[in-house]
Amino acid sequence: MSVQHTVNVELGARSYPIVIGQGLLGGGYDLASYVAGPDCLIVTNDTVAPLYIEALEASLRDRTSTSISLPDGEAHKTLSTMASILDALVTAGASRDTTVIALGGGVVGDIAGFAAASYMRGVDFVQVPTTLLAQVDSSVGGKTGVNHEQGKNLIGAFHQPGFVCIDTDTLSTLPDRELKAGLAEVIKYGAIADIAFFEWLERNMDALAARDPAALAHAIRRSCELKAAVVAADERERGRRAILNFGHTFGHAIERCQGYGQWLHGEAVAAGMVMAATLSDIDAADVARIRDLVTRAGLPVAPPAIGASKLRQAMALDKKVQRKQLRFVLLPKLGEAIVTSEYSEAKLDRLLAAAA
Ligand code: NAD
Ligand code: GLY
Repeated sequence: MSVQHTVNVELGARSYPIVIGQGLLGGGYDLASYVAGPDCLIVTNDTVAPLYIEALEASLRDRTSTSISLPDGEAHKTLSTMASILDALVTAGASRDTTVIALGGGVVGDIAGFAAASYMRGVDFVQVPTTLLAQVDSSVGGKTGVNHEQGKNLIGAFHQPGFVCIDTDTLSTLPDRELKAGLAEVIKYGAIADIAFFEWLERNMDALAARDPAALAHAIRRSCELKAAVVAADERERGRRAILNFGHTFGHAIERCQGYGQWLHGEAVAAGMVMAATLSDIDAADVARIRDLVTRAGLPVAPPAIGASKLRQAMALDKKVQRKQLRFVLLPKLGEAIVTSEYSEAKLDRLLAAAA
């Protein structure tokens, strides 16, 4: 066991640690100390369960655990899947001191977290994220929820975990395409909040794409630190937290137009970040730096041919829209971000034309 680093999310009485290391599952780390009551429900899916559930159970020592395995995929991130978790909690005789543990990627984490937020008006929740995207983004910050036919993540709640356990060894089984999708969110943090980290990514992107463990551990740690700071400052996204959506106005619209599952979320965000950087008032050389990094991560830099007007219509459904006015996360300079409704319509038209 080698605990490499702990990042704290500072939220007063609801603060919690994110532990990042190798060999944490399988008994290497005492997860039981974060399960306050005698029992827990592990929520996982049919892909992740055969890989890691035994190791997780071993880390829970004397705690009684039952589990539910969900069908894999974003298509199952629904209220009816969430209801199946609530049924499992009732069937297991779960009480107020039961802990829900999410073992999997962002889909499992979001649904399990929402079930934890709802059961008996809220029980303890632990995240054990196993995709890069979940390790650097979705497991931290307490956004939980499910999709509605009319849109992604329309139903949900803020419910912070009490602990996030990131065993970086789990990335060894993650398909390449999923790893690259996670790298998009890592690039995002450098672009919006930390120029030194962006420069580190420029030096280390090849190592990351080749799954170098030390490089991945550093990228996960720095991403978690940056996200933790934003969440601590604006837990419920009244303002600054929206910068975490850099590239997402375009990205969500691409996903929606193509149909979910065509491009992965990280792929759409990657193209969206290059578009948002182009819309920003920064040097062309800095836009090129973002485009280069995205390319080196093996991610797309432009939208697919889905049609400019379709893309614009989809963007109008963005959650940041206020009084029908689009708002974007833009970069006043590389390494800093603002949310603004001031942008060049002509530039936006040219950008959308690329999707024609
Ligand atoms: P995912 O959960 O669908 O996981 C991707 C695929 O990898 C799945 O097939 C999964 O079964 C598989 N998998 C997971 N871990 C594995 C492992 N270690 N080895 C092999 N296969 C593994 O997708 P994701 O990218 O992790 O998460 C996307 C979801 O996260 C979306 O629903 C998105 O809305 C949500 N999200 C939430 C937040 C938040 O703040 N709550 C932030 C970003 C994204
Ligand atoms: N992924 C955006 C957020 O957590 O706010």
